[in-house]
Amino acid sequence: MLEKHRRQTRHSTRGPRWEELCMAGEVPRYQHLYGTNSCPSMDASKVQVTLCKFFFSNSRLRTFERKLIRIISGSPRSDQSEGVGHNISFSLLLTASGSLTMPVLERQPSRDQVDQSGLPKLPVPALQQTLDMYLRCMKHLVSEEQFKRTRDIVQKFGAPGGLGELLQEKLLERKETKPNWVYDYWLEDMYLNNRLALPVNSSPAMVFPNQNFRAESDTLRFAAHLISGVLEYKCLLDGHALPVDYARGQLAGTPLCMDQYYRLFTSYRLPGPKTDTLVAQESSVMPEPEHVIVACKNQFFVLDVVINFRRLSEKDLYTQLQKIKRMADSVEECLPPIGLLTSDGRTEWAESRSILVKDSTNRDSLDMIERCVCVVCLDESSGIEPSGTNRAMMILHGGGLNRNGGNRWYDKPLQFLVGADGCCGVVCEHSPFEGIVLVQCTEYLLKYMMGSPSKLVRADSVSELPAPRRLRWKCSPKIQELLTASADKLHRLVRNLDMNVHKFNSYGKDFIKKQKMSPDAYIQVALQFAFYRLVCRFHLKTVTQHRETHHTKSDIYPIPRCHRRPVPTYESASIRRFQQGRVDNIRSSTSEALAFVKAMTDKNTSLTDAEKMEKLWNAIRAQTHYTILAITGMAIDNHLLGLREIAKELNLEEPEIFTDETYIISNQFILSTSQVPTTVEMFCCYGPVDPNGYGVCYNPQSDYIIFSVSSFHDSPGTSSDMFVKALVACLGEMQDLCRICNTHAKPRKSTESMEHASHRVKNGGREA
Ligand code: COA
Repeated sequence: MLEKHRRQTRHSTRGPRWEELCMAGEVPRYQHLYGTNSCPSMDASKVQVTLCKFFFSNSRLRTFERKLIRIISGSPRSDQSEGVGHNISFSLLLTASGSLTMPVLERQPSRDQVDQSGLPKLPVPALQQTLDMYLRCMKHLVSEEQFKRTRDIVQKFGAPGGLGELLQEKLLERKETKPNWVYDYWLEDMYLNNRLALPVNSSPAMVFPNQNFRAESDTLRFAAHLISGVLEYKCLLDGHALPVDYARGQLAGTPLCMDQYYRLFTSYRLPGPKTDTLVAQESSVMPEPEHVIVACKNQFFVLDVVINFRRLSEKDLYTQLQKIKRMADSVEECLPPIGLLTSDGRTEWAESRSILVKDSTNRDSLDMIERCVCVVCLDESSGIEPSGTNRAMMILHGGGLNRNGGNRWYDKPLQFLVGADGCCGVVCEHSPFEGIVLVQCTEYLLKYMMGSPSKLVRADSVSELPAPRRLRWKCSPKIQELLTASADKLHRLVRNLDMNVHKFNSYGKDFIKKQKMSPDAYIQVALQFAFYRLVCRFHLKTVTQHRETHHTKSDIYPIPRCHRRPVPTYESASIRRFQQGRVDNIRSSTSEALAFVKAMTDKNTSLTDAEKMEKLWNAIRAQTHYTILAITGMAIDNHLLGLREIAKELNLEEPEIFTDETYIISNQFILSTSQVPTTVEMFCCYGPVDPNGYGVCYNPQSDYIIFSVSSFHDSPGTSSDMFVKALVACLGEMQDLCRICNTHAKPRKSTESMEHASHRVKNGGREA
């Protein structure tokens, strides 16, 4: 066994001595764990240690500590362990002279750790393929006349020796020099250049199951347990011990890029006057963040989670949270709700921030927030019925200044909310990672909390810990003025959000799979159907709604609901199969889906059910085909963006293809949709991306589907309630059709294209 183990590890004959490492600052804050004080029987000068980066994570250090102490106290001749954590093996050996040597740690190549640089690079699709697809996607979404103009423009752009070819060549060069040619362009276009306020418009939320807190102590216990889970998860990340994700669903089994996880606790979105910056604390020069910011009653507190080189226990965290609660209750010390500024438009917040930083107190406070692990908001009870819809809204925007809207700091990627009324969840700054990564993290936390009973006993922690610090702010009259403006804007946003969270109970993924259809494709077709179906009629929104949202319009306003048309639709498709992969767009508004919904909504149709079923199959196949293209890096949106941005970099005049009305329309996503499945009871939600559109997030389960539908009250053409009603009806009709036509025997037609696509991923986008 030992021999086998030796083969797996490279032993060092002379590693740096422990005290040398300490003196060199190599083991910055953990030296106490292994210094002579904690192991008095050990002569530290005899310990030769060769450090591996893995030891710099708390969990690895603790494992090391346990082993070291066991060896020293129990004096076995050797101690070895394989597979500590997920994929590390190491052994501690007593040398003949009695000193301890520590072999170099090596990651064992396992399914859990795949060399991420070995992932293929995102391919650049062929120019003509993208242009053809673009025309196909837009033909039925614009007028015939407009389409003819677009076709000419596109032909000119893609002509041999034309501008398209030049830009394509430059993109291919870019691909050679970057791990991911679209990453920066995409990040800026999708998030950093967007000037809209983060709540509702950009930051998605995960809504946890409603908690039953009977007393303040329950809330604080929950928060302490949650923070403990966060610190455990962060240890896994720090130790690079998180198992690699593998794709599920379509083209299952390929490893996925893990980069997004490493931004969960280490990034921060700094507002800028024109564009924001995503700051990453990856540099070793910058100390690792060791504090959580706790927001309570619009005040911000620094909760150190490592004190005297020790990570705080859950009990200690609870004690500290109690202190925070008491400090927040002190009316005399109450400071203005500065967090409100982060809920404003990005340019406005950048301006306010530039005023704030002129004062050194403010600078210090901002610095603490920008370097924290995460924000935990202890919210007041919002006093509303805890339905899924209400909880989703509270977590998305906090309910405005009158509720918990000022108890937020939107720039930080992870903001956990623990409401006194049991409304809990997390709202995220989206630019560092996608919802799927957020789900993995929050599922870990919820499972941690469910699986490991709170370690709190009734008594408070007895340890004497320094009290958490309140962050101080110096607010000039100008800042006070800006705070009022931010509060007003947040108030409007709160009033404007029209949300409906619906659990569709009639069936779920299992029924759809039995039809031999992709559940995701099926749901997307249903969304197209629902949007189209919303009938052309005038609907009177209530007087109250209009008084609140339409200040300039008459009290009773006719709302045209004249859809009967397909609209540009966005569905996120993960491209994490590639290095630094984020997402591309599945354009779900296919002509095949349109043909199906027309057939289903035409009252005078002479089509039989079998013919309608055939159209449903065509729509599902087209959707599945696009999905496979998108997840293998062959969709059109990132490619067109790349061509547009590289033209800018070359200082070329903006190509006509990108000033054309069709391109503008193609980017107005009236339907912004996303599948965010969970294995723990919770759901994701977000706001619409277009003022006249819907945001639809869905969570398909075996026998039900949760839909979170959002829109804006002040859009005359939308209503989340109506959309949900239409969707439920459409899903019912689609099920009836499947049952009538009994499609069970239909074979999976997409197998061939899946195999082909799978091969393409492995080949980094190249054809076989
Ligand atoms: N017959 C029977 N079963 C089928 C089927 C068919 N024709 N087609 C698919 N299935 C099965 C799959 O095998 C899968 O099974 P599983 O539940 O055992 O894993 C299941 O149905 C779901 O597959 P499907 O509905 O096709 O979707 P998917 O899981 O492949 O997801 C995307 C498709 C586009 C959503 C996914 O690839 C993706 O990109 N997800 C990320 C989205 C994202 O980023 N969201 C967050 C944005 S912030």
